[in-house]
Amino acid sequence: MFIFCAVGLAIASNHPGWKDNTEYVYKVKGRTLTTLTGLSDQYSGILVKATLHLLPWTDSKLQGWLSDAQYVQIHSELPENWDSEIAESRLNYKPLEISEKPFNILTSQGLIKGLVVENTLSNWEANLIKSILSQLQLDLNGKNLIESPMNVLPTQEDFAGVFKTMEETVTGETETSYDIHRIPDYVLLSQPWLIPQQELRGNSHIYEIVKNKNYTNSNDQPLYHYGFRGVKNGKPSGNQMGEFYTRQSTSRMILSGKLSKYTIQSCETVNRITIDSSVADQRGLAVSSLNLTLWEVKSQNSQPRELSSPIEIGNLVYTYETPFAQSNEVREKNKEENSWQRLKRAASQMIRKNQDDSNSEEVRQYQPTPAMSDAPSFPLMPYYSGYYGRSVRNNKNFDLKQNVRKLTQEISQEVNQPDKILTQSTLSKYAMLTALVRLMNEQEIRSVSQALNHQNGKVSQWTVYRDAVAQAGTGPAYLIIQEWILQKKIQSREAAEVVETMSNAIRTPTEEWMRKFFDFIQKPEVRKQESLNSTAILAFTDLVQRVYIDLHRDESHKQFPVHSFKNFQTEQGKEFVKKTVIRYFSEQLHRSISEADTQNIHLYIRALGNIAHKNILEAFEPYLEGQKPITQFQRMLMILSMDKIVYSYPVEARSVLYRIYQNIGEVPEVRIVAVHQLLRTSPPADMLQKMAQNTNKDTQEQVNAVVKSAIESICRLTGRNAEEL
Ligand SMILES: *[C@@H]1O[C@H](CO)[C@@H](O)[C@H](O)[C@H]1NC(C)=O
Ligand SMILES: *[C@@H]1O[C@H](CO)[C@@H](O)[C@H](O)[C@H]1NC(C)=O
Ligand SMILES: *[C@@H]1O[C@H](CO)[C@@H](O)[C@H](O)[C@H]1NC(C)=O
Repeated sequence: MFIFCAVGLAIASNHPGWKDNTEYVYKVKGRTLTTLTGLSDQYSGILVKATLHLLPWTDSKLQGWLSDAQYVQIHSELPENWDSEIAESRLNYKPLEISEKPFNILTSQGLIKGLVVENTLSNWEANLIKSILSQLQLDLNGKNLIESPMNVLPTQEDFAGVFKTMEETVTGETETSYDIHRIPDYVLLSQPWLIPQQELRGNSHIYEIVKNKNYTNSNDQPLYHYGFRGVKNGKPSGNQMGEFYTRQSTSRMILSGKLSKYTIQSCETVNRITIDSSVADQRGLAVSSLNLTLWEVKSQNSQPRELSSPIEIGNLVYTYETPFAQSNEVREKNKEENSWQRLKRAASQMIRKNQDDSNSEEVRQYQPTPAMSDAPSFPLMPYYSGYYGRSVRNNKNFDLKQNVRKLTQEISQEVNQPDKILTQSTLSKYAMLTALVRLMNEQEIRSVSQALNHQNGKVSQWTVYRDAVAQAGTGPAYLIIQEWILQKKIQSREAAEVVETMSNAIRTPTEEWMRKFFDFIQKPEVRKQESLNSTAILAFTDLVQRVYIDLHRDESHKQFPVHSFKNFQTEQGKEFVKKTVIRYFSEQLHRSISEADTQNIHLYIRALGNIAHKNILEAFEPYLEGQKPITQFQRMLMILSMDKIVYSYPVEARSVLYRIYQNIGEVPEVRIVAVHQLLRTSPPADMLQKMAQNTNKDTQEQVNAVVKSAIESICRLTGRNAEEL
């Protein structure tokens, strides 16, 4: 029995890609470039190179270390393409300061499952290691196979195969398709660099593995996005969104040998994001590639080095940096996913296949929930992680407040001389100013505000700064705007405009923030100011809808950075909307009606309509159904302001609207508006049929005319829409 097991183990070697007592040396070359095609062949970005050493240790462990890491920034013309060869002599590589400390790679059947590093390693270096090791991730045994009758796994006899797995790499845990086939020798003659170590090949064949990622099916994805609410198809984390955004990842690995013993000779991964702009035929391209080439294979009899204070940092998925922390050391993977969570996740995935991203929330990594008075820890943004993985703020030579003041001053000078705006790139300066304000905490925003000069030309420095703060969309910026208003630093129309801009810019609408905003609109300083009071109410209710109530699928997910901070649609937040917000506005509506305050009646009808939650119908119904009197115009306004709820709660809205339509005691104008609104809820065919029949007995000819022409135009519709009807 014992011998049996031992034999079994020997065959299913845990790392068939690596021979014992051998050091593998790979040359690593990478580049990340961006360009606007259609304009020129200008590319800018960074080139990196390094050497990766790998030394098999035990059956389930390899030791690795990086050496000789260098980088160079480029901004130049690349005549051929983004991957044009650039002569090394033209480049002035500088050393990249990395620790070169050894790290241990935990493997299982060729899969890289985890990393153990020194606890002093910086998180950005760990992410660099993860991105390089991701190239070597290889699931030849289909351990994470996605079941499908199409799958063909490689076997001992035939290495070729086609299958899909869920693969963990630096970009997340993502569906990855494998296509493995033999490369004929003549191809290798013309591309000898594919197998740099010919002699290791012996008389075995050479295989190419082509891998493509499908980001649309992904469990864990480090990502920052904001502002894609209106985009209908796709989602920001997928391969495609709308007509303009595509994301691709293709890897190509070259192996020699056979399934039980092979050598990874070279690999190349290209990640590409294209943004098609509707303007002219311009395209934005961000592309990054990483190549590994087996440079040397030497026999090595020395033992791997023991780490002095090892910690396990989890799998290869990118770990968010901590932008504002004093140090940015790796963090221990605290919550290993236990078997119960894994089970739960698998179950929820089966039920809600690719529905949305909330299902695996408990196993994802998130940045801390932003506090109101500090800048949020946005991941992956240049000013937040561009300085050795941390925010540029951590650079001792960078004075944030000083830079903000300097930009404010320059912009205000340039804006006062309109002919200079284009030549001095004032708009990009403004974008930069807003991005810097986003880094500031409450105290910093306040102190710059106090120091600024109010008078100076038509557009003062203060005005420029005020607008940048309104655009920033962070908690601290919000607190300062609130302060300006409560202290009457800005008033009435000016204040109204700032509040509107601010509420459209909010990026991290936490429950705390929503509650603060709700308190704010009720403050006497706000309520008593003409124009500010109504704008604030409409801006707030509109925001409530954008955060909590999806008019179309996953809108809130697309709009706000949920992959970075967790879903903002919390249960408590939803309760707050139902129990507090809607109740408050309903009461205000009833009171305005009893006081016959026309202006406020209109305002609160619109405010409730904005929220678009089904509970707003309770506030409208007594009036719409005639139990309580209001004017015909006000009833019409209520129906008009159901323009959002017809999408968020079509069934509930439809039943209210249908009753109004059926009420022959109602005036035709109101019934007609109800019919128009009803049609937006995609009513079922039998309802339309009944409406068509009604036209025979309905005495209000105007209503009949509208119903007829609506139904006729629906019948003229062809294709999918019509089938749904
Ligand atoms: C990666 O390798 C491919 C094929 O060998 C080559 O065309 C490409 O230029 C290389 N890229 C980099 C960044 O070295
Ligand atoms: C990618 O995954 C999504 C979600 O599982 C699926 O609908 C789509 O067909 C996949 N695309 C490809 C090319 O496999
Ligand atoms: C807004 O302010 C004006 C002027 O003070 C007042 O008449 C109106 O009732 C206020 N509106 C609300 C909703 O409080």
